[in-house]
Amino acid sequence: MDERQLKKSRSKNKGKERRAAQKAERARIAAAQLLVKQANSIPEPLSKFPIFHKYERNGLSCRLICKRVKDVDPDMLEWAIDLCKRTMQPMYEKSTQGWHENEKREEMTEDAAWYLIAVDTVTEKPVAFSHFRFDMDYGHEVLYCYELHLEVECRNKGLGKFMMQVLELMAFSNQMHKVVLTVFKHNPDGMAFFTKCRYEIDETSPEDTYEETFDYNILSKLNKMKPTQKTSL
Ligand SMILES: CC(C)(COP(=O)(O)OP(=O)(O)OC[C@H]1O[C@@H](n2cnc3c(N)ncnc32)[C@H](O)[C@@H]1OP(=O)(O)O)[C@@H](O)C(=O)NCCC(=O)NCCS
Repeated sequence: MDERQLKKSRSKNKGKERRAAQKAERARIAAAQLLVKQANSIPEPLSKFPIFHKYERNGLSCRLICKRVKDVDPDMLEWAIDLCKRTMQPMYEKSTQGWHENEKREEMTEDAAWYLIAVDTVTEKPVAFSHFRFDMDYGHEVLYCYELHLEVECRNKGLGKFMMQVLELMAFSNQMHKVVLTVFKHNPDGMAFFTKCRYEIDETSPEDTYEETFDYNILSKLNKMKPTQKTSL
């Protein structure tokens, strides 16, 4: 084989390799999308784990329920929207995004939303909630925690950490690649809490540059049972 033929053959092989890699990536994304679809089709993702239906510690007695937004009691949903407003409006107002109540309401009531809610077993009132979704994020199957909020009197009693553990259980038992969430940098309590829960800066978290700065971090916890996935996205 002369030099010219060798070059041609090398470039043909490279083309083949690239096409094979693209095919493998398409197959990986299709498999990830299927996992998300399957997770979203489970009627009650918490039902397999009865020991996580209750939280009885540090003076709190709660039962946990997990439902799709369409099945959440309308009064409970209104309470969740109101609690989110009470805790987050000042944080959003400090951010570049600003507070847009109607947009937040829309996001919290979209069909894709799931709710994990802690209800006080004595008063039967809801005291904490997480809005989360099984979704694709930058080519990965993830459980995205959109919100986690506790009524003030229930904070610092371990309930927030317990609810994150429940989200992780639902994520990893449904083969999600990671749990992801966004937290404002000017929410030091939130940052400290998630760090304590062993969340780390995610690879998709934007980095500040001279031209642009970001007022939020994207944090995540990887599913250790899944091999590391590289994506071209
Ligand atoms: C942030 C929040 C969800 C934490 O829930 P919580 O039930 O109060 O926290 P927990 O009691 O489960 O704390 C878990 C761990 O984090 C630590 N922690 C919690 N808040 C902390 C803080 N501000 N600084 C340092 N550590 C903190 C606790 O000491 C605890 O540590 P331990 O496991 O060693 O005991 C809750 O305080 C809240 O609803 N805050 C307002 C809304 C909000 O900011 N949500 C998060 C952003 S969306």
